[in-house]
Amino acid sequence: MPNAVIVGAQWGDEGKGKIVDILAENADIVVRFQGGPNAGHTVVVGDEKIILHQIPSGILHPQKRCVIGNGVVLDIETLLIEIKNLKAHGYFQNDAALLISEAANLIMPYHKQIDVAREIKSGKNKIGTTGRGIGPAYEDKSARRGIRVIDIFNDRVFENKLKTILEEKNWYLREFFKENIFPLDEMIKQFVLVRSSIEQYVKNTSVFLNDELKHGKSVLFEGAQGALLDVDHGTYPFVTSSNTVAAQAAIGSGVGPKHLDRIIGISKAYTTRVGGGPFPSELKDSVGNYLREKGGEYGATTGRARRCGWFDLVAIKHSIRINGLTHLALTKLDVLSGLKTIKVCTGYKYKNTLIHELSADVSVLENSEPVYTELEGWSEDLGAIKHLESLPKATRNYIDFIEQQTEIPVTILSVGNRRDQVIIRENPFKD
Ligand code: GDP
Ligand code: IMO
Ligand code: MG
Repeated sequence: MPNAVIVGAQWGDEGKGKIVDILAENADIVVRFQGGPNAGHTVVVGDEKIILHQIPSGILHPQKRCVIGNGVVLDIETLLIEIKNLKAHGYFQNDAALLISEAANLIMPYHKQIDVAREIKSGKNKIGTTGRGIGPAYEDKSARRGIRVIDIFNDRVFENKLKTILEEKNWYLREFFKENIFPLDEMIKQFVLVRSSIEQYVKNTSVFLNDELKHGKSVLFEGAQGALLDVDHGTYPFVTSSNTVAAQAAIGSGVGPKHLDRIIGISKAYTTRVGGGPFPSELKDSVGNYLREKGGEYGATTGRARRCGWFDLVAIKHSIRINGLTHLALTKLDVLSGLKTIKVCTGYKYKNTLIHELSADVSVLENSEPVYTELEGWSEDLGAIKHLESLPKATRNYIDFIEQQTEIPVTILSVGNRRDQVIIRENPFKD
């Protein structure tokens, strides 16, 4: 059975959680390979809305194994809340379902404090982070002073590492931000208290995954954020601090890239972004408000209103290229119902030049005007439609246009937030 990578093709919140939940049926294992609790992946089951932050969205399927890979930055405090919440709702009843990489870096309390303090200090130049400590945690990972999951189970190693780190962090917090500091003893006590709660999940997940792959099991790699938030390929510096693209699925879970068979980009049928940064096809008018209200575009992690705009082919083509997308899933098509015309951004105009590529210069993006192709809208409610042929002609034209322009097939269509509101034209797990 092939493996599949699901990645966000835009600025996050494309509906990855919903699609992963649906496709998890076909896989044996679901792996998160980057990001952390900045992610908010929503799955709607019946009347219940479950938001996953660190645990893979496959966890709602009792038979599946879920892995938090080495590429994730893990916040134990919020993980324990997530576990408790899932169990209270009748999910995750078998602890063997979850495995946490011993090599994942931890988000420590000082990372969260630094993240928030930095944003406050940056004023209007802030990134608009989720305040979950993501940037500071990845910084420490790269600087080789991160604390990894395995470290908290070795008293001597943990104390030594923490002592050195806190000396620096406390100085930074006190002197630069005028913030409270973290006493060493208290932090050690805090981690000793929680470590027993996660111990049973901690494994060498690379060994686990490779063994399972050897035995023919199939893996679904669940990306977080989206390509345009990738630290290398996104709208830097208005990005997250990890690589969000498909290649990271291998690195962040400890398997070779040959295992990444199908690469599916999830994209909304329009575009949203939460936080600061350029967004050339953004709508600051009544259509933008319409999309926000009809699409319920409020952040699953922070509750912030999402900025809304038209589908952007420049951004999507960039995403296809840097991810090597083989398929697209188009979500929230139902939200576009009721608009007389629908625009698609096909290029940017910058200083009288038409450009078709996403510039690495954020000021070019900020000063670009979108160039649109206008398509006919539709008024029908799509929520109950189960087959492509039953979609209104204008909807099919819209999908055809996107396929022609992107030159990759749109194989999954989502027409509502529920599990059953999906049209699967081609299942990525079928050979
Ligand atoms: P993720 O971070 O990519 O998993 O996406 P989020 O969960 O942050 O945001 C997507 C939102 O859209 C969630 O509230 C989903 O329940 C909802 N959603 C997903 N697919 C559809 C769809 O096809 N139609 C509608 N109306 N809502 C959807
Ligand atoms: P999911 O997985 C949308 C955005 C933040 C901010 C920037 C940096 O649900 O799609 P960070 O806290 O990562 O340092 O913030 O990235 N961001 C997201 N936007 N969906 C997400 O995750 C996001 N995770 C981070 O809003 O602009
Ligand atoms: Mg989200």
